[in-house]
Amino acid sequence: MTCPQCQGIEREFGEKTAAKKLLRYHRDGPAKSTSLLIETLISLGVQDMTLLDIGGGIGDIQHEMLKNGITKSTSVDASSAYAAAARKEAQRQGHGERANFLHGDFVDLSPEVEDADIVTLDKVICCYDDMRTLVSASAAKAKQYYGLIFPYDTRWIKAAVKIANFFLALTGNPFRSFAHPTALVEDILKANDFGRNYYTRSGFLGFWQVIVYSRG
Ligand SMILES: C[S@@+](CC[C@H](N)C(=O)[O-])C[C@H]1O[C@@H](n2cnc3c(N)ncnc32)[C@H](O)[C@@H]1O
Repeated sequence: MTCPQCQGIEREFGEKTAAKKLLRYHRDGPAKSTSLLIETLISLGVQDMTLLDIGGGIGDIQHEMLKNGITKSTSVDASSAYAAAARKEAQRQGHGERANFLHGDFVDLSPEVEDADIVTLDKVICCYDDMRTLVSASAAKAKQYYGLIFPYDTRWIKAAVKIANFFLALTGNPFRSFAHPTALVEDILKANDFGRNYYTRSGFLGFWQVIVYSRG
């Protein structure tokens, strides 16, 4: 992967961060917002469904869903450290054979990725500049549900993202965050025949929007 943001992702989500995330997952389970997404999908009925988790990190969503009725999962992650940690954790939990892991930018890999009943992107579109292509290419892969967690785009969050990016640039870090407009994300999903099924906000001042869309 050669794009500056992909290089930034490798640097931002490296081995140390993956090890910390794994420790926290072992101690506390998935983050609150991630748990809300997982619980909502499970309550909708995921028995015998397949999952495509894009940017799944150490794999919280895949591990929990594989324990709750999903037949198989595919993960595509731009961080090699996260992809390796997720694979190791799947083996440790005994469902390694039902979990497939790809390392790379989903936008590039998308033509070779199979459709799935459920597609999830948990805190991913805020790490990627070309949100339109990422959302439309991933929505096209989802046969039934599309689960998304991304920042609420208020003025203060946009300002915080600008400040964070300023300091990243100062330190020579190519990684950037993005507060993509919610309305634009929704327009792309509507155009792909998805409607909102569940919506809540989680985290400090409701920073994270947790949304499940259904097809049709
Ligand atoms: C903030 S982390 C979130 C990880 C995990 N979902 C979580 O909540 O702990 C963002 C993740 O998105 C991945 N990512 C960002 N853009 C991506 C893309 N275009 N294709 C694949 N993975 C991507 C990064 O590698 C990273 O694992």
